[in-house]
Amino acid sequence: MGKLLRLDKYLADMGVGTRSQLKEWIRKGRVAVNGETVRSPEQKVAFGTDRVEVDGVLVGYVEKEYYMLNKPAGVVSATEDARHKTVLDLISSRQRKDLFPVGRLDMDTEGLLLITNDGELAHRLLSPKKHVDKVYYVKTDRPIPEDTKKRFSQGIQMEDGTVFQPASMERETDTSAYLTIQEGKFHQVKRMFLAVGCQVIYLKRISMGPLRLDDTLACGAYRKLTEEEIRNLYER
Ligand code: URA
Repeated sequence: MGKLLRLDKYLADMGVGTRSQLKEWIRKGRVAVNGETVRSPEQKVAFGTDRVEVDGVLVGYVEKEYYMLNKPAGVVSATEDARHKTVLDLISSRQRKDLFPVGRLDMDTEGLLLITNDGELAHRLLSPKKHVDKVYYVKTDRPIPEDTKKRFSQGIQMEDGTVFQPASMERETDTSAYLTIQEGKFHQVKRMFLAVGCQVIYLKRISMGPLRLDDTLACGAYRKLTEEEIRNLYER
């Protein structure tokens, strides 16, 4: 038998309605479990085993969801926003209502964003103690100075006192590079390049720990993580 949870919670998790709406619908007899109308919101159901229907429509249950999004510029890394589209608005096939982006990319940053409701995994990936590598592709407005690789590798102190831990940079051209950092401070990549006199004019995240952006995903597209990708994220 699957794990047990309350009928109203089962339906609320799947975004069918609010808890209070659902209580009312259940009391009105709109919800059936294994073909029998159930009028008690507290009734326990086993997900994966019990068949839950609302107005005759089957509602399946998923406990965890994991998506890789190739974030486009112009959307915010938040669950809700009054003015802008959010990254969650792009995940049209999502089932759960409690998904969130693991970390933030700036509005104008593109690339890899993991979207899930797995809080434990998010913590493992975001905790500074875990030192998870994040690789960014950067284009700058002017040639990156010669000594940048060395300066980044030693850690860099900003005028406001912020210290960025050692990071590794691989130059692609005079004005483009891959930067690997293990922290996730506010505007970190842009601020690091500003410290060496360059403005970042394009920024894209390529990977996070073992998870690499699928290069077949167009900007704005997403897909589910594979079982192997999820396992690798846990095992790192
Ligand atoms: N560093 C930045 O400056 N911006 C991002 O979106 C991510 C890392």
